[in-house]
Amino acid sequence: MRLKDKVAIVTGASSGIGIGIAEVFAEEGAQVVCVARREREGNAVAAQIRDRGGKAVFLACDVSVEEQVHRMVDETLRQFGRIDALVNNAGVNFVKAFEQITVDDWDRVLGVDLRGTFLCIRACIEPFLRQGSGSVVNIATVHTSACLPGAAPYDAAKWGMVGLTKSLAVEYASRGIRFNCLSPGLIDTQIWQDIQEGAEDLEACLAHWRANIPMGRVGTIREMGHAAAFLASDDASYITGANLLADGGMTSLLVSKEMYKSVPQQRE
Ligand SMILES: NC(=O)c1ccc[n+]([C@@H]2O[C@H](COP(=O)([O-])OP(=O)(O)OC[C@H]3O[C@@H](n4cnc5c(N)ncnc54)[C@H](O)[C@@H]3O)[C@@H](O)[C@H]2O)c1
Repeated sequence: MRLKDKVAIVTGASSGIGIGIAEVFAEEGAQVVCVARREREGNAVAAQIRDRGGKAVFLACDVSVEEQVHRMVDETLRQFGRIDALVNNAGVNFVKAFEQITVDDWDRVLGVDLRGTFLCIRACIEPFLRQGSGSVVNIATVHTSACLPGAAPYDAAKWGMVGLTKSLAVEYASRGIRFNCLSPGLIDTQIWQDIQEGAEDLEACLAHWRANIPMGRVGTIREMGHAAAFLASDDASYITGANLLADGGMTSLLVSKEMYKSVPQQRE
């Protein structure tokens, strides 16, 4: 078990990738603290993990609100005495033309994705320093490798997460605290459901994504859980400041559309 008896905070654990991370961390032996704003959904995730024999509790917290983050971290320490891993997974995004983006839009995305990540790390850093150990996994995105139009605040926030990760990696490397990013590609979550439901021609939509993802499929939330568990664990003991792409090869594809069918060269 990669995370046996480790105490791990996972933010945004009430849906999508956060559930996959919380489940895999529990299977790897961690005491998981599932953090989200929505109590009913968050409690249900923790209860399901316990039903399967794992260790999980739910703590309600809006990661963009400083007092709530401090309360969440204090409560984790009160219940479990230490924090070994922090996964900053809570995130929001929307697609909108840049000229239509309001200051509120900007603040909302930056407030959760970047400020929330900062606040959670800031609140955990003293316990990490006291322990002389800690591992932070920030869930970024393939947009930190190549961007799409209409996601400027998200892209700015996620590139900011990578910068924060690298900066803290060098600042704390000698004190036993590691910081890494995990950047998912397209994962089977609500976003993927929305893409399919919004498609005028579902077959064409599926063919488009098969052509744009070298592995020919979207990723699963459990695959993200396994990648995050690796980064959080001692198996990644010499890895800090990394941005691990878990995207089925998407960002390695030079031209991201099938432009023509290649013709096999047959010469006598
Ligand atoms: N799904 C994908 O294909 C994909 C791809 C790349 C990156 N990501 C990233 O992965 C992470 C999870 O994405 P997802 O698709 O599972 O999204 P999701 O919307 O299903 O989950 C996001 C979670 O964050 C929580 N959250 C939002 N604002 C919060 C706040 N202020 N305080 C506490 N919790 C808050 C939500 O309640 C939810 O539990 C995000 O950071 C996202 O940017 C997702």
